[in-house]
Parts: sequence; C-alpha cells; structure tokens
Amino acid sequence: MGGVSVDEAMRRAIELGARGLGTTSPNPVVGCVLLDPDGTVVGEGFHAYTGGPHAEIVALAQAGERARGGTAVVTLEPCDHTGRTGPCSHALIRAGIARVVVAVPDPNPVASGGAATLRAAGVRVEFGVRADEAEAGNVAWLTSMRRGWPYLIWKYAATLDGRSAAVDGSSMWITSEAARMDVHALRGTVDAVIAGVGTVLTDDPRLTARNLRDGTLAIRQPLRVVVDSAGRTPADARVRDGAARTWIATVAEVGAGPDGRVDLPALLAELHHRGVRAALLEGGPRLAGAFLAAGLVDRVVGYVAPKLLGGGPTALIDAGVTTIADAIDLELTDVTRVGSDLRITALPRKREA
Ligand SMILES: NC(=O)c1ccc[n+]([C@@H]2O[C@H](COP(=O)([O-])OP(=O)(O)OC[C@H]3O[C@@H](n4cnc5c(N)ncnc54)[C@H](OP(=O)(O)O)[C@@H]3O)[C@@H](O)[C@H]2O)c1
Repeated sequence: MGGVSVDEAMRRAIELGARGLGTTSPNPVVGCVLLDPDGTVVGEGFHAYTGGPHAEIVALAQAGERARGGTAVVTLEPCDHTGRTGPCSHALIRAGIARVVVAVPDPNPVASGGAATLRAAGVRVEFGVRADEAEAGNVAWLTSMRRGWPYLIWKYAATLDGRSAAVDGSSMWITSEAARMDVHALRGTVDAVIAGVGTVLTDDPRLTARNLRDGTLAIRQPLRVVVDSAGRTPADARVRDGAARTWIATVAEVGAGPDGRVDLPALLAELHHRGVRAALLEGGPRLAGAFLAAGLVDRVVGYVAPKLLGGGPTALIDAGVTTIADAIDLELTDVTRVGSDLRITALPRKREA
C-alpha cells in the first residue's frame, strides 16, 4: 500500500473532525491524521466531546511508536495549554513527530501558541492546507472565538407567500414532519436556542431537541433562551419544564437597548461568556427582525412549505428596511428538498459601513 499525500490526509482529518459537531462545544471540532515517514496512515482521531481527549491524543494513542519521525495533519493548530487535558504540542513532541501540517491557526488566546512551542522543539510546522474547507467545518466556533459572540443561525418556517402563521394566529404546522425533524437535528448541533416571549406566549414551545416520532430527548440539550424584557414568561410555560436548562433573559439581567427592550449585543456577549458558540434563533418574526436589523445574523435557514395563506403575520417583521435599496441581501448557499418542503440556506451579505 502506498502512502497518502498530506492534502488527502487533511481531507480525511476534516471529515473526522465533523463527527464531533454538536458535542464538543465550547471546544472546536478537530480531526487529526498521523502519517509515518513513508506517508502511511498510522493513526486517526477526532475530538468527540467536551472534556474528552483531543484529536491528536487519540491519533497518537493509536499510532504508538509508529508516529516517530512522522507527520501530524491537523485541522486546527494544536493547543498549547493545560485545560481538561494536557497540551497537544507537548504530546506531539514527546511522540517524536517531525512535522505538523495545520489547516487553520487557533484564534483562542488561551490555547494558541502550539505552533511556536513545536517550532522551538525543532518540529517543522506548516499552515494553510485545505484551510477554506477546514474553516467551513468549524465556522461557528472560529467566528465566535474571533469576535466574542456566538454564531447566530436564524431559522424560520413560512408558506410560499411568506406567512409564518394564519390570520387567526394558528401556525402548527406550516411545514411537514420531515422538515420539523430536520429542525430538531439542527437544534442538536447548537449550544442555545433563542425565542422571543411573543412566541412563548402564543405557541408555548418546548424548544428541546428530540425525536419527533417517540418524543425521546436528545442526550445533549441546547440552553433555551427566552428574550423577555419584562419577564412575562408564564410560570407554567413549557420552556420551564426542566427537560433542559432555560434562561429567561430580561432587561433587569441583560440591560436595555435603545428601544427599552433586551439589548441584543449584550445578550449575545453574555451567551458567549456562558460557553455558547453557536445559537439558533427560532423566532418569532419580531425578534428575528430586531436581530437582522442589528446585523447580528450569520446564517438564514428557511423552511418554505408549498402552502398559501394570503393573510397572517409574515415570517419577518420590522427588519429596519423601508425601501428596496435597503433590502437585506442574501447569498444562497444551499437549496434542498426536505419532505414536501424546501430548505433554503443563505448568508447575509456584509453591508458597507
Ligand atoms: N413560522 C415560524 O418559523 C415561527 C417561529 C416562531 C414564531 N412564529 C409565530 O410568531 C408569532 C409570535 O411572533 P412575535 O413577533 O409576536 O413574537 P417574538 O418575535 O417571538 O417575540 C417578540 C417579543 O420579543 C421581546 N423582545 C425582547 N427584546 C427584544 C428586542 N430587542 N427586539 C425585539 N423584541 C424583543 C418583545 O417583547 P417584550 O418587549 O415584552 O420583551 C417582543 O414583543 C406566533 O404567532 C408564532 O406562531 C412563527
């Protein structure tokens, strides 16, 4: 068997890293492939869960002595600090690794410095192999670490004519069961789910990640956040059912924005402080409008059902747009049919300051 190229090994490391998505937060997803001096794969690993061994440590344990003189191919710069596990930089040096190839540098001021430590020990370190791909696989974590607030995905469901509820307020269900199952899977990949008190008062959602067929809860539940300026969430609201952690974010706790309601940047900063790296904004239309108007949404995921209502609230209200020239421009990145509905994924284009 011939050896594999560093590029091919990185493709595999990125694939491995993705397996940890949703269970590593507040840590990143990381994959690692070890090659011996002939380019033969002698170890593979990924960071699977918070507090668990890092990708490099898993791969080194597999490789044992065969790692000596070899190359470590890692999606993110090896850490240099002692957290729940020892520094990976030291473990790679101890194992006799000669060369480390990294896709993306670590933006985390606490953990970075791995490359410098490795170089000081005589290990060759290179950056940038498949960097865009690795960046995309870790986009939520990298974005949130660089700027200090969570990566925010706004998810909504609407009819083909853009309605999020009927004239009488009923909205269950606009989309098919398949689309709703897809949403539960999406909830399983984030650290927090955010809803406005308007949605809690109207729909009384649980906001947990669960199997819709048998109702069983996913093992890891995102923090449920209700944005509720004056604390109007009823004592018997389902979000308070104890099935997952819940934070009722009020003005008293977070502070008020210019309109006297919960200050949204302060809310996101507090979530980051609590370890939230990716969050799912589930509405409703008014809260989504406020987040979009403030430029705080990183990704839009819309489930569009082949239904028409002709009346009722629209999926988005008051997003700070009054004329067509100010429309929030999106770049479509994916369109997938889910059950009888369409799932449209798009990224807001950065606006000129
Ligand atoms: N189709 C969908 O995807 C979807 C998803 C969710 C909901 N819905 C529908 O949406 C309807 C409820 O929507 P809604 O617009 O009334 O409620 P909402 O967007 O869930 O909540 C709006 C409320 O959030 C509170 N809030 C706190 N801080 C805010 C801020 N900075 N900016 C804006 N709001 C802030 C405000 O109440 P306070 O001032 O009291 O804090 C505001 O009235 C329901 O009919 C529900 O079925 C549809």
